[in-house]
Amino acid sequence: MSKNILMLPGDGIGPEIVTQAQRVLEKLNKDLSLDLTLSSALVGGAAIDATGVPLPDVTLAAAKKADAILLGAVGGPKWDKIDMAIRPEKGLLGLRSEMQLFGNLRPAILYPQLASASTLKPEVVSGLDILIVRELTGGIYFGKPRGIRVLENGEREGYNTYVYNETEIRRIGKVAFEAAQKRGKKLCSVDKANVLEVTVLWREIMDDMAKDYPDVELSHMYVDNAAMQLVRAPKQFDVIVTGNMFGDILSDAAAMLTGSIGMLPSASLDINGKGMYEPCHGSAPDIAGKGVANPLATILSVAMMLRYSLEKPEAADRIEKAVSLVLDQGFRTPDIYSDGLNKVGTVEMGDAVIKALDNI
Ligand code: IPM
Ligand code: MG
Repeated sequence: MSKNILMLPGDGIGPEIVTQAQRVLEKLNKDLSLDLTLSSALVGGAAIDATGVPLPDVTLAAAKKADAILLGAVGGPKWDKIDMAIRPEKGLLGLRSEMQLFGNLRPAILYPQLASASTLKPEVVSGLDILIVRELTGGIYFGKPRGIRVLENGEREGYNTYVYNETEIRRIGKVAFEAAQKRGKKLCSVDKANVLEVTVLWREIMDDMAKDYPDVELSHMYVDNAAMQLVRAPKQFDVIVTGNMFGDILSDAAAMLTGSIGMLPSASLDINGKGMYEPCHGSAPDIAGKGVANPLATILSVAMMLRYSLEKPEAADRIEKAVSLVLDQGFRTPDIYSDGLNKVGTVEMGDAVIKALDNI
């Protein structure tokens, strides 16, 4: 039966990179008769400009109907001044929350070809292969009450609520323990249990769950230490599980270990494995429209989609091999460029991956 894939290009470099990922998906759809039907919709600033809101009802309805979603990026300076409630980011957060995409998988893998693109010494990062499992629909991002209020003395006060219930912690814990079972069997849960009660509970529940996964070695780390360890000795980690905000921050740091955030895909899954796939990076307004953005994170997000939501692991393998081949061949967008290699733009990188698909 045909499966529906919804493309949400969004803002900034989003449309450029999604176009290349779509070409890759369309090629595989044809070559491997995947029977996928592709459509697209507006989200983020693009949706605000066209309809006044970042997540139009038609987009949400199409997302709920789709078997999988590919998102580019949202946001940009053009919409920075508008009301918080309808900022482009709310489009993304609304999709995550409405579709209950609580399980965010953010792999940070160093391609050997890019060892010199990292700002860290090659021996610190070579062979790096970390998976960050970030809780995506709870925590301080969604906790209530929240807002900015005026106090009796006339001063304004901003406030948010950091909250996790037991069900939410167990749900993400299960994703993380199971992921660790399929990898190096080491899970590090990151919290701030020396200060925040919500993470005291988080730690207690992770410890309790560990009894059901005797093959996984569970450890705990405070988030400040985890940030330091990620840049000091990142290879000590296999799978990291953490809450929404800590995961947001640590995944950017982990991404940079690999040389460029432009290489990293992500998956956001619901309880049934239905998912939204997106590059870890943002809309990069500074380079939008210049044709220089790296489309590989989005192309690799298509691979994750094929693997996690569409049950086409062999198609996913093909994409990952093609990406590795174009790196071997020396193709580099500016973010991963080093002397002597072949500097290319967004479309040429897409061309190279498509050509590579025929050569593997
Ligand atoms: C991310 C982004 C988002 C987040 C923004 C764009 C709302 O930084 O996916 O990491 O904070 O989750
Ligand atoms: Mg982020």
